[in-house]
Amino acid sequence: MSPTLLTRPELINLHPSPGDVCAAVAQGLARQPRQLPPWLLYDQEGSRLFEAICRQPEYHVTRLEKDLLQRHGSHVGHCCAGRNGAAPLTVVEFGAGGAHKVTPLLHALQPVAYVALDISATHVHRACIGLQTLHPQVSMVAVCCDYGQLPALPDHPLLAGQRLGFFPGSSLGNCSRAGAVALLHHMATLLGPGSLLLIGMDQPQDIAAMEAAYDDAAGVSARFARNLLVRLNRELGANFQPRHFAYQARWDASEQRIEMALVSQREQVVSIPPLETVVPWASGETLVTEHSHKWGAEEVQAIAQEAGWHGVGRWCDGQDRFSLHLMEHGSLSPC
Ligand code: AVI
Repeated sequence: MSPTLLTRPELINLHPSPGDVCAAVAQGLARQPRQLPPWLLYDQEGSRLFEAICRQPEYHVTRLEKDLLQRHGSHVGHCCAGRNGAAPLTVVEFGAGGAHKVTPLLHALQPVAYVALDISATHVHRACIGLQTLHPQVSMVAVCCDYGQLPALPDHPLLAGQRLGFFPGSSLGNCSRAGAVALLHHMATLLGPGSLLLIGMDQPQDIAAMEAAYDDAAGVSARFARNLLVRLNRELGANFQPRHFAYQARWDASEQRIEMALVSQREQVVSIPPLETVVPWASGETLVTEHSHKWGAEEVQAIAQEAGWHGVGRWCDGQDRFSLHLMEHGSLSPC
């Protein structure tokens, strides 16, 4: 193993091209209601604002998950070792962001390598550089990509061992149910035969608490959503007026999800030059920025099973608000 990799994490940059951004916007604005893919929220400023959301008192997701990882990291490690034996292990984190959650797993599992996948290059690379000082014995690679579209993990000598996928933050809930099955299928292909996957999922709970988590009093969630318009102005030369769009986050009981949207506050027309057309907005018309589904533990297991994963362990907080699900691909025996 190369000593350079041990001291300085490498960055592999596979960020979607400006053409991909443009295509995603054209497609999303053609939908009814209009809806853009969540990965567009995470430019450098968006990633910074999302970290600030995670620190808001109303946003329980990060707090509950970190606490579970602290308390049960060694149990997860024990479970993985029981299935994996002494084979060298690589931890692959999907949507690593600032990589604030993985430390208890790295301590418990002592993997040879950690691969952090995220859409924001600077953010994920910096995170790995910081993490490397805490775990000098683990080789680290940051990969900037839209992991949902990644055809394969980079062909890298560090990725040769058995893999544990780590998918925290309830990010699976940002997909539709069918999208979640497809994504878990895709992860099985990326991780390879016999892999394990640890998924962190927020569960349905008090409606007022869920709505507050996605519309905090300090207005960080609103700034995060409006930053999407700022990004489109900068990257596509669009002329959105962010102050003419109000932010809303509402629980939709029939779909079991929080719907986050920007609502046009007036009739207005926005020009997006690469689309070669202007986009008219009616007053009250919405642009959906994200869905955050809240599935119970049984529903998560059912979704995973449709993608060929089987639960081998689950850990949850005392009030059953958040769960860590350990899954194995293709096996039925519990831990
Ligand atoms: C990344 N994802 C799981 C967050 C969530 O809870 O759905 C995104 C988010 N958007 C606004 N607040 C949180």
